Amino acid sequence: MRAGGKRVESNSAQLIRELRERTKELRCVYAISKICENPDVSLEDVLQRIVELLPASWQYADLACARIALQGDDFRTRNFARTRYRQSARIFVCGRLSGVLEICYLCSPRCGKHALFLKAEQKLLDMVAERLGRIVELKNAERELKSAHERLRCLLRSVENARENERKRIAHELHDELGHALMALKIDLGLLRDECPGMTVILEKTRTMSASIDTTIRNLQRIAWELRPVLLEEFGLSAAISTLGEEFEERSGIRCLVRVRAESGEFNQDLSLVLYRIIQELLTNVARHAMATKVTISLEKNKGRSVLSVKDNGKGLDQETLLGKKTLGLLGIRERVHSCGGTLQIQGQPNRGTSAIITIPFSITGERK
Ligand SMILES: Nc1ncnc2c1ncn2[C@@H]1O[C@H](COP(=O)(O)OP(=O)(O)OP(=O)(O)O)[C@@H](O)[C@H]1O
Ligand SMILES: [Mg+2]
Repeated sequence: MRAGGKRVESNSAQLIRELRERTKELRCVYAISKICENPDVSLEDVLQRIVELLPASWQYADLACARIALQGDDFRTRNFARTRYRQSARIFVCGRLSGVLEICYLCSPRCGKHALFLKAEQKLLDMVAERLGRIVELKNAERELKSAHERLRCLLRSVENARENERKRIAHELHDELGHALMALKIDLGLLRDECPGMTVILEKTRTMSASIDTTIRNLQRIAWELRPVLLEEFGLSAAISTLGEEFEERSGIRCLVRVRAESGEFNQDLSLVLYRIIQELLTNVARHAMATKVTISLEKNKGRSVLSVKDNGKGLDQETLLGKKTLGLLGIRERVHSCGGTLQIQGQPNRGTSAIITIPFSITGERK
């Protein structure tokens, strides 16, 4: 009876011991998952944190030290020393042997008849090594994605700059070449009229031709102005936005209110052009999609930042349909704002309109256009 009782006692002691070991393993796995959750932590930090938490999961934690050698880098606990009481697992990245994970005991633990390392510890080590391989793969993929994104941003910026220069060139040609040629035609028509007194048919024809030249010159000026907002360069952002609002109202029939609560002088050329182009794109969207009767543009400064808001009272932008669309307007705005270190919030409510709020710091530089 006594012998039976002793056996039960030793079995339950063994079970408790195993349970304690399993709990340590689980804690280790959970801690590794937690470390990997934060995408902002660098790969180096992740590996250092993991190596530091490993010894606590081994039977003789006080004597244990750990090291990860991976792709030429070395991460180790402060007390690490390679001894003959060692256990290791190989790390594979994308199927290639890329490193090793090792646990050592600083001296021989007094484990008597028990094994120096448990089977479960080797399993845990293998599992951590496999996980490390996957973490590296993931971080590499993240890095590549980030750099591809950065390259795309760069490309978009240079495309925007090229577009802006091309707009200037075309506006110049329209104004200086075509505009002057039309003016010369108009003068010649006047001379022709003077040469043909009493020839009513010709006089009438020259009159309609002259009127049509006037209309063409006006259209030409409007197009040139849209391409290159001279007013923006000469009179500043407030005046340019007001004119933009008036012209928008005239053309679309949508009431446009403009409130600028900041001095034009506070916006440098680059920031002014960015804000101006954003307003142009947002107003185009209002005219094309919103079915609105009113739009309000407001611009103010707040803690060293310019805050632009464009709100309409239309049908409201639907974020879900936005997901499936391959459109460029809002994407272009987002990228412009992002490259200036700013933020964009755009929201719509069914039948209660859409509001876009853009915040950009005053101190943007020329190349970030
Ligand atoms: N003010 C708005 N009210 C309602 N829906 C809007 C508004 N602005 C944008 N949208 C919706 O968001 C979509 C995306 O706008 P975005 O400017 O990116 O593209 P687009 O105007 O359709 O084409 P483009 O690339 O020529 O600008 C629009 O197709 C429209 O469905
Ligand atoms: Mg658009």
